[in-house]
Order: sequence, then C-alpha cells, then structure tokens
Amino acid sequence: MTVTCVADLQRLARRRVPKMFYDYADSGSWTETTYRANESDLAAIRFRQKVMVDMSDRQLATTLLGESLSMPVAIAPTGLAGMQHADGEILAARAAERFGIPYTLSTMSICSIEDVAAHTTRPFWFQLYVMKDRDYIARLIDRAKAAGCSALVLTADLQILGQRHKDVINGLSVPPKPTLATVANLATKWRWGLDMLRTKRRTFGNIAGHVKDATNLNSLSAWTASQFDTSLSWDDVKWIKERWGGKLIIKGIMEPEDAQSAVDAGADAIIVSNHGGRQLDGALSSIQALPAIVAAVGDQVEVHMDGGIRSGQDVLKAVALGAKGVYIGRAYLYGLGAKGEAGVTECLEIIRKELDTSLALCGLRDIQDVTRDILVPGSYPTVS
Ligand SMILES: Cc1cc2nc3c(=O)[nH]c(=O)nc-3n(C[C@H](O)[C@H](O)[C@H](O)COP(=O)(O)O)c2cc1C
Repeated sequence: MTVTCVADLQRLARRRVPKMFYDYADSGSWTETTYRANESDLAAIRFRQKVMVDMSDRQLATTLLGESLSMPVAIAPTGLAGMQHADGEILAARAAERFGIPYTLSTMSICSIEDVAAHTTRPFWFQLYVMKDRDYIARLIDRAKAAGCSALVLTADLQILGQRHKDVINGLSVPPKPTLATVANLATKWRWGLDMLRTKRRTFGNIAGHVKDATNLNSLSAWTASQFDTSLSWDDVKWIKERWGGKLIIKGIMEPEDAQSAVDAGADAIIVSNHGGRQLDGALSSIQALPAIVAAVGDQVEVHMDGGIRSGQDVLKAVALGAKGVYIGRAYLYGLGAKGEAGVTECLEIIRKELDTSLALCGLRDIQDVTRDILVPGSYPTVS
C-alpha cells in the first residue's frame, strides 16, 4: 500500500494491530465529541494563500525549553505503545532521536525508563502520573533523573479515568486475556504476534516490580482507579519540582486560570491539552482553547499544544495561533502500529513535508515568522 498521509498509516495500523490495542488508540471518552472536535476544529481553519514571493531556503527548526528541534513537533506520551508494536517505546524514541525531535516516555509505558535510555543517545522527556504511593513517585522521578531525562512532563488531567467505551467492550488488558474474541482476532495479526513473541517486554516496565499491589494490571481502568492519587493539587507541584530539579512541563491545561496556576507553581512550559479527547468529553478542542491561554501566559512560559494534529497543516495552524510547539499522539502511534520504527519516521517525514510546503504556499520561509496573519480572519478561534 502506498502511504501518502497519516490517514494511510492509520489504515495500515488498523490492519496490523490487534483490535483491542488499535481501539485503545483510536478512541475518546464517552460520545467522543471532544476527540472529534480536536481534528474538525483544526480542519475548519483556513490559510491565506500568498504567491510570487521568494520561497527558497526554508527553515523549520526551532527550540523547546532550550533544546533544538528540526521542526516544532514532539512525540506525546502514550501508554502501552509497546502493545501497538513490540518494543514500541524504544522504536519510537529512536525514530524521534534520528529526526531531531523530543520523545516523551509515558509512566504507563511497556519499555522501562532505563530500557529506553539504554537504546537511545539523546535525552528524552519523561511523563509523570502521580499515584498514591509517594515513595514510588519519588523513586520514579529519581529514575528519570538518573536516566538523563531532560524534562519532566507532569500530567494534570488524569487522576481519574474518562470512560472509553471501546476499552470496556474489548476488556482491555495487558497482556491480552485469552478470550475467544481476543484469540480469534490475534490469529489474524500474525506479524504483530511474531514480533511480540521475540520480545520480553510485555508488561508495564516502569511499574511491574516497583509498585505495591501491582500484581493485577489486568484491568487498566480498575488499576488506575485504585492507584492514582485523586487528591493531587497545585500544592504537590512544589515537591515534585524540588525532587526533580530540572525543566518541568505541566500537561492538560485548558483554562487561562489553570495556566496561571501552573506558572505560579513553577512550570517552565504548559501543554494545552484535553488528553486527545480521552478525558472530559464535551471539553473544548485544544485549538479552541489555545488563543486565550497564549494571551494569558504566553509571555511567561512556553505554551505547547496537543490534540488532533494529523498533518503539517495542523502544526502550522497551531503555531500560527501561538503554540511554540505541538505534540503528536495518535499520528505517531499509527505509524508505529503500521511499520514500527520506519512507520514513525515515515509519519514524521509526512508531517515535515506538509509543513514545509504549506509554509511556502503561505508565503513564508521561516517557521519563526509565522503569525496568525497567515490565517483567514473569522476561520480561527480568537480570545472572546
Ligand atoms: C493511546 C493513547 C495513550 C495515551 N497515554 C497517555 C499517557 O500515558 N500519559 C499522558 O500524559 N497522555 C497520554 N495520552 C494523551 C497524549 O499524550 C496526547 O495528549 C494526545 O494523544 C494528543 O492527541 P492526538 O492523539 O490527537 O495527537 C495518550 C493518548 C493516546 C491516544
């Protein structure tokens, strides 16, 4: 199959990845309204086409938190990436490293922090979920530090899990429970299965053996409910930041007031994010929320965004509305599920090419010169 865009990688991933794990990626909470809005609100924004301007020698490079990037895109933390493809986290981290963009490893990864560090040379970022067992969290932070991670991404919007119907129906578990439906489906995914047989990484690498009562990881939702700390508040950021001692990014901000609280708590950057429409269904899309947050705190911290980015055009629109950089979740997961490391690289190449061409057709040569002037007034969200 010829791959021309991220949607093609998605089609391939749907064929190759067991239904339970494909669905885990391609789903949002409840009615999936916010999940869909993340994409459709980006799609509704229009560019202003500019012609007859010199478009040679274009430049996409930028920095996030002082790190150089070949384009303003990072890999978002996604749990269970090692179930989309065997050794998924290592493969994706390597693809990101070769491409010159940051990779963010989830707390809920299959490959552990140490394992990813052993297979990469560029420092990656580590995403933290805060659990009730604070000793474990302190140790997890220390492990990220010891592995040379260059930023800590504290996720603020998942202390309680939004229900994703498909996961309930599929009985999502790691490793998959051998029900009749699961076994029948796995039988059609032989390539996935062979790769899985070759690896020893088949459970939550950062957690197994480290958390008390971690024996039952079968039901992710039940496990989350029993382990995640629902009392997490802004006051906790202080000790997390102190323990970490490095760059701190707070992820899951959708309101200007929360953005200011994040700044006051010591964040170096925030990510405008609704968790890819997987948490509060009915929340605004990320691109709708972005302008007000940039207006509120854009002069104090870097504002990053994720949610719905499927193309270079989407990256350009988010940058035009003030995002210093964006993260991709599903886009890279589809590449990973479709073709492993090569698929992640292909995804990044597709996005880079689309971004580069679109920048030129908007009459610009340098991503740093992008402002909302490249967008058609009335087609993009503004601060009310
Ligand atoms: C399958 C999947 C797993 C995810 N796991 C995590 C996670 O472990 N930690 C986290 O902070 N965000 C997680 N997210 C949210 C992503 O970091 C990101 O916010 C979201 O995917 C962005 O939307 P997009 O997929 O439309 O690019 C996950 C998203 C997906 C799709």
